[in-house]
Amino acid sequence: VKQNSKISKKKKDNLQKVMEVIHKAVECYSQTWKKQEDNYQKLRSNLSSKCHGLEEAIITQNNKPVGSEIVYDGSKKTLKVTPELFSIFMKDHPFSNKTLDTCAVVGNGGILINSSCGETIDSAQFVIRCNLAPLGNGYEKHVGTKTDLVTANPSIFINKFGALNGRRRPFVESLRSYGNSLLLIHAFSFSAYTAASLRAIYTIEDFESPIRPVFLNPEYLKSLHLFWRSQGLRENRLSTGLITTSLALELCNNVHLYGFWPFSNHPHDLYPLTNHYYDDIKPKKVHAMPAEFDLLMRLHSQGILRLHLGDCP
Ligand code: CDP
Repeated sequence: VKQNSKISKKKKDNLQKVMEVIHKAVECYSQTWKKQEDNYQKLRSNLSSKCHGLEEAIITQNNKPVGSEIVYDGSKKTLKVTPELFSIFMKDHPFSNKTLDTCAVVGNGGILINSSCGETIDSAQFVIRCNLAPLGNGYEKHVGTKTDLVTANPSIFINKFGALNGRRRPFVESLRSYGNSLLLIHAFSFSAYTAASLRAIYTIEDFESPIRPVFLNPEYLKSLHLFWRSQGLRENRLSTGLITTSLALELCNNVHLYGFWPFSNHPHDLYPLTNHYYDDIKPKKVHAMPAEFDLLMRLHSQGILRLHLGDCP
């Protein structure tokens, strides 16, 4: 009984924290948003000097020469860069010395359903999407179709495409809607995922798919983790949404977020929402989603980035 009452107190405390974040978000969101250039420049230069996303976010032949070691960010394992592995790395970093004007980062939240935000998202100069989220089937009106970068967690190759051990065409066909965007693969978080990630790349090459696969650099993830920790975020693993948002903050003058709402009810009308706009698979426990959202809300209220929680015109 004592233990039960302890658990329920913990649950109650958590619920209370979530309610506070939602309440704060709705209140903060109702204020008029204005970009605050000073705050934005300060965060961007801080982030750039600590994490060097424009040179380090992606593994290249420059930052990982033959003979160097890749240290996984989810375990202590390492992998030596062989000439064969090196040959599939991108030559130069696609973002070095680049600044883009407006970027849209599209999270996968159910809040996008019926948002009519597709056109607004697609009007951004650079559109980042997460985890090969679907774009067809009528979703386009609400999430858009333009994609410049899309991430892939290798668990997708394993769970949806049989680890690419069998027929590979369905995988290649599923990539068609992303055109020639960059496919950013988290291949070096856990060693168990590396082989399937390599098979994904060989499949893309063999089928001559126009998508351009690249690897997320685990060293960048480690420095991002430390950076956000220094800003008060306590969590074990950063979510894909926070990783892509961090990259956008270095790369783009104006960062707009859509589909970020890790709660099960709509902020305005409180009707129930699915976790993703395309399914209701629950979030992984390793992410501290309300805490991450609290951080994003803080950046929104400081005029550093703009969160979109409402429907688009
Ligand atoms: O890889 P991960 O499980 O973090 O991501 P996902 O479920 O595919 O969603 C992509 C990103 O959208 C997440 O990392 C979150 O940042 C964001 N998201 C959100 O804010 N609210 C939701 N209900 C679902 C996703």
